Amino acid sequence: MDNRKNRVCPVERSGSLNNRFRKWLQSPKKILSPYIEEGMAVLEVGCGPGFFTIDLAQMVGENGKVVAADLQEGMLQKLKENIKGSEIEHRIILHKCEEDKIGVSGKFDFVFLFYMVHEVPNKEAFFTELESILKDNGRIYVVEPPFHVSKKDFEETIKKANVSGLTVVERTKLFPNKAVILKKS
Ligand SMILES: C[S@@+](CC[C@H](N)C(=O)[O-])C[C@H]1O[C@@H](n2cnc3c(N)ncnc32)[C@H](O)[C@@H]1O
Repeated sequence: MDNRKNRVCPVERSGSLNNRFRKWLQSPKKILSPYIEEGMAVLEVGCGPGFFTIDLAQMVGENGKVVAADLQEGMLQKLKENIKGSEIEHRIILHKCEEDKIGVSGKFDFVFLFYMVHEVPNKEAFFTELESILKDNGRIYVVEPPFHVSKKDFEETIKKANVSGLTVVERTKLFPNKAVILKKS
């Protein structure tokens, strides 16, 4: 049995990530507006079908960009369909990750990781790569789900980020999720 496949949210479930009820419960603008400014270079890893990506692209404006990265080509295709012909289409660069490497180039002001870090097998290598592409004053926002990520697991994840050269700036209140903002140490 392929354990990796079991761990990663399947493309068939992408519909449940992109619905109106979720927009009301987890408003992307409300969650992101304290951190996003016009002109920013944003990286979203584990973008899925793009629930947050579209708002991110609106918020960075004409001079900003969003690199939307995902392990699964099927998720990127869903996002591609969702932005086709829209005015923000050109601000979003789709990127297919490898299982053990994000593989994007450039430096980023903001990295967004929503409900995805628990799916990454080697978190230390993942955070080390992110640290290397984060601008000196950049921020990484990690949000993990309430039930299948325990408090203990979340603290373990933060320890791994610390080992990779990242420190906690803020423990954000995003009840019932677990959330933290990281910066370079
Ligand atoms: C639960 S979904 C969340 C999607 C999106 N962030 C949202 O909140 O709607 C997790 C996503 O992370 C992606 N993912 C898992 N491991 C990954 C990795 N190592 N690199 C890039 N993407 C990954 C999965 O393919 C999936 O699309």
